[in-house]
Amino acid sequence: MTATDATATTRAGSDIERYDMFIDGAWRAASDGATFDSINPFDTEPWAKVPSATAADIDEAVAAARRAFDEGPWSQSTPLQRATLLRKFGDLIRDNADELARIQVLENGKLIREVAGQTLALANHCYFFAGVAESPTGETLASSVPNMQVFTVREPIGVIAAITPWNSPLALLLWKLCPALAAGNTVVIKPSEITPVSTLVLAKIAQDAGFPDGVINVVTGAGPAGAALAAHPGVDKIAFTGSTAVGKKIAVTAAERLARVSLELGGKSPNIVFPDADLPNAVNGVISGIFAATGQTCMAGSRVLVHTDIYQQFAEALAERTSQIKLGNPLDPDTEMGTVACRAQFDKVLHYIEVAKEDGAKLATGGARPTDPELSRGLFVQPTVFTDVTNDMRIAREEVFGPVAVVIEFTDEDDAVRIANDTSFGLAAGVWTRDVARAHRMVKRLRAGSVWVNNYRKTNYVAPFGGFKESGLGRENGFHAIEEYTEVKTVWIDTGNTITDPFNPRA
Ligand code: NAI
Ligand code: MG
Repeated sequence: MTATDATATTRAGSDIERYDMFIDGAWRAASDGATFDSINPFDTEPWAKVPSATAADIDEAVAAARRAFDEGPWSQSTPLQRATLLRKFGDLIRDNADELARIQVLENGKLIREVAGQTLALANHCYFFAGVAESPTGETLASSVPNMQVFTVREPIGVIAAITPWNSPLALLLWKLCPALAAGNTVVIKPSEITPVSTLVLAKIAQDAGFPDGVINVVTGAGPAGAALAAHPGVDKIAFTGSTAVGKKIAVTAAERLARVSLELGGKSPNIVFPDADLPNAVNGVISGIFAATGQTCMAGSRVLVHTDIYQQFAEALAERTSQIKLGNPLDPDTEMGTVACRAQFDKVLHYIEVAKEDGAKLATGGARPTDPELSRGLFVQPTVFTDVTNDMRIAREEVFGPVAVVIEFTDEDDAVRIANDTSFGLAAGVWTRDVARAHRMVKRLRAGSVWVNNYRKTNYVAPFGGFKESGLGRENGFHAIEEYTEVKTVWIDTGNTITDPFNPRA
């Protein structure tokens, strides 16, 4: 039996699958029975029904996570026990990777070509954090206070709310879930309303791996469910990936009770091409930065900065290769670009194309829905390149989250740095040059959480990821991630047993 068989029931006479939520180890409907549909963006047909969580359901999920944290076997778990569960979780993700990948494609239209490998690699993510669970984290301090042994321990924060987006639903969830569990927290997940099913199936896999009841809970619903979860007094930390607008709201909500928060938000990342770059390679790198995943990644290299000397030549090569991108069924491994994920996103992308034209950007290729009748039902937008863009245009300042590249001209290194950093965001940047010294100068000057030199959009579980400025707070992945899910406790042990002056601690 596959994980989907266990969570979904198909009604007679309908091919719509029905899923339950996962609260305290049990699969259940919403308390008022309400549901919403998951829609496949390739044919715009609903294919699954998912519960729409009520405030009462969210209360129960948080209470279950609280009990599991305070009282259950998890509260007494050893690092080895948590590591063993994470390894088993990884094994089962690997065994079910094909199915998990297929479900994500049905939900968001991303290419199986990317999602298959990305999903399989999530097993390694679990294995890495299994190792982290058993890695030493505290420090013995070189204190000069007489007769005192001083050390720190890292302890789990408590109940974590993981509020996740639709663009890489499982990867961005595991970036939170693995370190949270490794450190001994419990979790209530609120997946995006666009991609709830993959998270529910993943929760079944976690249950099969043997995580105790209440350690992992999933409540499904739209923005208000996320807001209710973030505002819940039983939640100790909110880990969020999504829009900067919602991230700011969550930070305000968290501030009310000083809940911990980590935010991985939007971007308008510069991908900077110097004349000394390997130009064919740079064209491919710029394409991968903005058209892979239909541009729906937080790290999209959506501002292409090109040096004056090669501006014309590079823009033409980019537009030419872009016009050849093969749109199609995201489940076909030959397809190079799939749909955008949902109707709201589709409308947003087409709106921004109009904004760019109004502001005087020059359309070099794309700019509309494709005309191919086979694609007419899907939420396809042609990969689009605008040239003659200046950095003050809205299309250069606001996140589109779609397949729209803007090409901006720069004159020298200083000019490139000025334009690149002239943004409210700071998630990522790319630099294309064969000059090693220039590469290092640029890395130092770019205000962004990740800088790729002669490559783009690489991530790995060992490598911290997160944003400067309005692109977020905190870092995911690597050893840094564990810091986001722990509190530091400082311990003072008196080895002399001599309180000489009760009114002066320095005595
Ligand atoms: P969103 O930020 O509204 O949604 C992300 C998650 O937050 C979802 O689970 C959603 O249900 C939840 N949410 C929505 N409102 C909330 C609230 N008030 N309190 C708590 N949780 C809430 O993103 P959406 O609407 O899906 O996409 C809008 C734009 O956000 C995109 O066009 C893109 O620019 C950006 N985005 C960025 C992502 C990233 O990876 N940084 C991922 C997805 C979207
Ligand atoms: Mg939204």
